[in-house]
Amino acid sequence: MQMKYLFLLVVIIGLISCAENKQPSQSSKIKNIDIDNDAKYKAGRGLYITNCATCHNLRYELAGPALQHVEERWKDKALLYAFIKNSQAVIAKDAYAKDLYNRYNKVEMTQFAWLKDEEIDQLLHYISVASNKKD
Ligand code: HEC
Repeated sequence: MQMKYLFLLVVIIGLISCAENKQPSQSSKIKNIDIDNDAKYKAGRGLYITNCATCHNLRYELAGPALQHVEERWKDKALLYAFIKNSQAVIAKDAYAKDLYNRYNKVEMTQFAWLKDEEIDQLLHYISVASNKKD
């Protein structure tokens, strides 16, 4: 009889420690980033407000799709960068981009050929951090 309780106790302790080891998903990421001192975030936010916010919101659709977690929808990062620079060139060769274009009533996204990769890094960093922000 006592062995049975001991066994139960071990199982319960095991379960508790497992639960504690689980990482709180996503929300913890934002805690590690100090937005006020994150130059990359600030640069990305500036670029986003000036160039993207007329057609995009992070959480809801405008002329273009909500950009929250957009990186997760692109398996090929090079293609995502290419799309931001010249969406039509990617739509011509990629099924996902073509489908997106059709779903958004063939509204052509502005070309941003002048954006440097470093600036797209900043934009995507801003989008990713802001996507996980609770507001
Ligand atoms: C004139 C409106 C317009 C502007 C400005 C614009 N976009 Fe878009 N964007 C769109 C539309 C519309 C789509 C949907 C695809 C299409 O129709 O070509 C899109 C799609 C996207 C996608 C793919 C979304 C997904 O769900 O996979 C990304 C990424 C993106 N835009 C990033 C940007 C960034 C970054 C900027 C600013 C540098 C920007 N866009 C500026 C209209 C715009």
